[in-house]
Amino acid sequence: MNKNLKGFMLLMVLAMFALVAAACGNEGEAGSGSGSGVDVGIVLPTKDEPRWVQDEQRFKDALADSDYSTEILFSQGSSAKEKENVEALLNKGIKVLIITPHDGAAAAAAVEAAKADDVTVIAYDRLITDTDAVDYYVTFDSLAVGAAQAQYLVDNAEGTDVPLYLYAGASSDNNAFLFFQGAWEVLQPKIADGTFKIANSSEAEALSDTKELDRDQLSKIIGQVTTNWDPNESKNKAQTHLTSVGEDLKGDVAILAPNDGTARSIADVFASDSAVTNYTITGQDAEKASIQYIIDEKQSMTVFKDVRTLVEDAMGMAVDVLDGNDPETTGSYDNGAGEVKAKQTDVIVVDEENVKAELIDSGYYEASEFTGIE
Ligand code: BGC
Repeated sequence: MNKNLKGFMLLMVLAMFALVAAACGNEGEAGSGSGSGVDVGIVLPTKDEPRWVQDEQRFKDALADSDYSTEILFSQGSSAKEKENVEALLNKGIKVLIITPHDGAAAAAAVEAAKADDVTVIAYDRLITDTDAVDYYVTFDSLAVGAAQAQYLVDNAEGTDVPLYLYAGASSDNNAFLFFQGAWEVLQPKIADGTFKIANSSEAEALSDTKELDRDQLSKIIGQVTTNWDPNESKNKAQTHLTSVGEDLKGDVAILAPNDGTARSIADVFASDSAVTNYTITGQDAEKASIQYIIDEKQSMTVFKDVRTLVEDAMGMAVDVLDGNDPETTGSYDNGAGEVKAKQTDVIVVDEENVKAELIDSGYYEASEFTGIE
């Protein structure tokens, strides 16, 4: 084969790959509606965590018979990709953007671009900070999530000096602050009265007399015990912690894990240490894998955030905007640049006792998706 022909064929093969890749890239599309434009753009942070795949599925279910067209794109843990996604949706003429930022501060630039195009911006689950380009915020009660996790540890602590291992979410996520703050307000009095003994954070120990932490104080603790929402980082941190503590910080322990993905990794590490005789560990999101862990008694609890409600609220707001109505809100959140009107949803604590009633009997999951549930 001559060189030119070879080059041409290579180009053809590359072009075919590009076509296939473009077709696969559209798999996030959902909804109906007519015309070539898109009415509502939805940008979610990553497909690598089941939590956000759950949201995608619930959006698709909710949109099945919507009159408006929608498209869902994932940012794969990158603020640059997120900005590209927003721009791609703006080019398709969206009128409403529903977005969960990967990084709450970095996303300001993306939503400012949307605002400049007269698009209504709805922050979904995670707040976008330090910009006035956010119109609405739909969220769960994140302080209540942290408080519920902490209360579970308090209710299950026996005796005094129970070793307490603290873990937090990513500092780039405003929710990580709310979860930790909510938890700390419940845990702090129980640290002060000797029920718990902090095992893995000198920063938390230094603040153990302070119930209400400001943002800087929270930052110090979170900076030390962050998981970055990453199961691998959680596992490495937990291993380091268990390697560096003495026997007095093992035995029957309490672990504040911020969500299900990190909880499963941390639980596996604690379960494999023979000096840990028992552990109580928290979580949130009611991910399927964690529901199985709860049934198998490997994770103690999760906070169930019914994504169907959040999707309904976000889409309800979007439709109100498209129909020219004012969306209903229930309160507001300060994002650093001002108050953002918000709609907030309650959460439910789930453990072995009520897992069937809350998640199976309610129709959220099918019993057949798990083993060991009657
Ligand atoms: C969400 C959690 C999630 C975490 C990691 C938070 O902003 O509220 O549900 O587990 O991000 O993705």
